[in-house]
Amino acid sequence: MKFFIDTADIEQIKAAHDMGLVDGVTTNPSLVAKTGRKFTDVLKDIVALIDGPISAEVVATDAEGMVAEARELIQYHPTNIVIKIPMTGEGLKATRALAAEGIRVNMTLVFSPLQALLAAKAGAAYVSPFVGRLDDVGHDGMSGVGEILTIFKNYGFETEVIVASVRSPLHVLRAGLMGAHICTIPYGVIMQLTKHPLTDVGIEKFLADWNKSQQ
Ligand code: E4P
Repeated sequence: MKFFIDTADIEQIKAAHDMGLVDGVTTNPSLVAKTGRKFTDVLKDIVALIDGPISAEVVATDAEGMVAEARELIQYHPTNIVIKIPMTGEGLKATRALAAEGIRVNMTLVFSPLQALLAAKAGAAYVSPFVGRLDDVGHDGMSGVGEILTIFKNYGFETEVIVASVRSPLHVLRAGLMGAHICTIPYGVIMQLTKHPLTDVGIEKFLADWNKSQQ
């Protein structure tokens, strides 16, 4: 399973990249707003650091505006920039147009397997089901991911599933067990994945034994 990092914070991207855990990056307008920086400056920094798919989201709500924004964003890296487009009728139109030009789209704000099917049919390279936000309203977000994977397999779609809105290591575990292509993970959850209390206890014991033996 590929790991994307879900952040616009360049220090977090660097730290996860140094551990070999960044196959790609996803950003969104809220994550960029948190940095207090200009989106284009953030994008330049990410592109300089990561050689992999980098999702940059449009803010236009009409297909024409989305396509125009996409053409600007793609200038930051012709092969690594992926255009993130929200799952609406206009978004599907824009996705179809961009896919025809060979520009990859990550269809975002997907909350149902049928929305994912529409995104794949429109030619999206990636689809991002938001599992945490579904859990928040009492649904099991990950079960929808399983259904999306089944539908894509049934019809041979090449669209990759990015498990998004990840809130805990359990989301990552379930994504791996289901065979999701990608998980986009906040930095805090990546760090949680590195930890196990028995690892800490083990290190403490090894060091204590070592120090005793060397006296
Ligand atoms: C995905 O690409 C989104 O940026 C992200 O996963 C949304 O997560 P949230 O629901 O925690 O805001």
